[in-house]
Amino acid sequence: AAIVEHVFHVKNVVVKPLCKEQMVPAVNGSLPGPTINVREGDTLVVHVINNSTYNITIHWHGVFQLKSSWMDGANLISQCPIQPTNNFTYRFDITGQEGTLLWHAHVVNLRATLHGALIIRPRSGRPYPFPKPYKEVPIIFEQWWDIDIGLLGIQPAPVSDAYLINGLAGDSYPCSKNRMFKLKVVQGKTYLLRIINAALNTHLFFKIANHNVTVVALDAIYTTPYLTDVMVLTPGQTIDALLTADQPLGMYHMSITPYTSAIGIPIPTNMTITSLLVYEGAATSSSPALPLMPALNDTPTAHRFSSSITGLAGGPHWKPVPDHVDEKMFITMGLGLDPCPSDTKCIGPVGQRFVGSLNNRTFVNPETVSLQEAYFYDITGVYTDDFPDQPPLIFDYTNFKLRTNSDYKMMFPERKTSVKTLRYNSTVEVVLQNTAIITAESHPMHLHGFNFYVLGYGIGNYDPIHDARKLNLFNPQMHNTVGVPPGGWVVLRFIANNPGVWLFHCHMDAHLPYGIMMAFIVQNGPTPETSLLPPPSNLPQCTRDPTIYES
Ligand code: C2O
Repeated sequence: AAIVEHVFHVKNVVVKPLCKEQMVPAVNGSLPGPTINVREGDTLVVHVINNSTYNITIHWHGVFQLKSSWMDGANLISQCPIQPTNNFTYRFDITGQEGTLLWHAHVVNLRATLHGALIIRPRSGRPYPFPKPYKEVPIIFEQWWDIDIGLLGIQPAPVSDAYLINGLAGDSYPCSKNRMFKLKVVQGKTYLLRIINAALNTHLFFKIANHNVTVVALDAIYTTPYLTDVMVLTPGQTIDALLTADQPLGMYHMSITPYTSAIGIPIPTNMTITSLLVYEGAATSSSPALPLMPALNDTPTAHRFSSSITGLAGGPHWKPVPDHVDEKMFITMGLGLDPCPSDTKCIGPVGQRFVGSLNNRTFVNPETVSLQEAYFYDITGVYTDDFPDQPPLIFDYTNFKLRTNSDYKMMFPERKTSVKTLRYNSTVEVVLQNTAIITAESHPMHLHGFNFYVLGYGIGNYDPIHDARKLNLFNPQMHNTVGVPPGGWVVLRFIANNPGVWLFHCHMDAHLPYGIMMAFIVQNGPTPETSLLPPPSNLPQCTRDPTIYES
């Protein structure tokens, strides 16, 4: 195992992906940011030097952070932000996982430009559980604004102006002509595509004209090989897929298009963004073949892709599903309304602001200290250990209608910093039930610090008898981020084997200010090795003035 070291200089730079110059924060001046390559078992050390004008943290999305929860980079949860002109060094081991992940800033909106690939290859001498590819190619989907959305503070971003593939908007936009990502391939060879959806707020379909791909990993855990002509990724999800250049010499579009299940959610007008697969020796005059993209609201295609893939039972890093459960939770997710603060302009139906909720709780970030320090140092008054195991009300989640006073209550969630404490090594099962309160859309729920088994997906209200019988306990797929279908449910299970404070939240960045999050506190185990260590001495401190990191 090696020590892999990087320096991240975060600075505001001037870029022009479309027609307009704008200033955005970037790592080492590049968009997307630098790719990190490690092998499983390595130690990663990243020195973050913040010379931007923003408070930032960097989160290593999907990394287990075993015994290193102080390095998780969740703003105000695992640490206070690194303020302008300050530095912080992240240092952690990468163990027990292989595949493609991403790193990104964990501050509302800043993830738009501060992100990059984090690629974990097997230890030296260990093969992939599939034939060795000829080459490996990161493919990063991004979302772009012609305004500096960092300046919005913690407001949810408006409709974006474009999507990018590896930093390039392609032919679909003014001023971006001839700036398209091109992948040159040799006929007959197989390529490993390391696909990352770094878009803030959009699920994306991905298709390559005339080609199928074989999915071999999701969220850096191997799957049973799955042959498909279309993929869908929620924000934060990653896919490793093999692509064989098995078609006639030519050029083929590789395209993305948004998937949105919600009615009335604004999306940009140019919907399909392309990159190009170019066979070596193909006539450059030939016109590229186009894939037929799914419709914007094609939930059946999205649901079929997401729910059909199974885990590679017995493969590298696979552990059998625990068959007993210690903690059972049923969590409803929805949007609700909240009285509008006097200094804000609110867009809710009767002048309120929209909020999100989990079990009718809207999460409020701590302000003067991180949640993890409050836990570690026993600082009272920062959070309450009372996140409910059930929603306050059982109702028809997917056909929500206001009938009684208590139904009405579900539209006005309680604002709180509440957490759920878990015993060390306990097995936790969570039924995530999407609701139709105000709007039904897919919410990609992301758990920090763990992969979870996805035992089942379904549409409608979860039925604890009938649906529970059909869960896959043998070879379920695993994820750190799972899209809970609109008006549907997901059942997940994980083992709380890593002491610390772990955020669980919707990975639609716009839903962070809405408070669709909660945190788990995993208690210490019986030995010093299974206990949370003290924080590093240079862990950034929050300023006393909370308005500073709200902007
Ligand atoms: Cu990729 Cu908490 O985020």
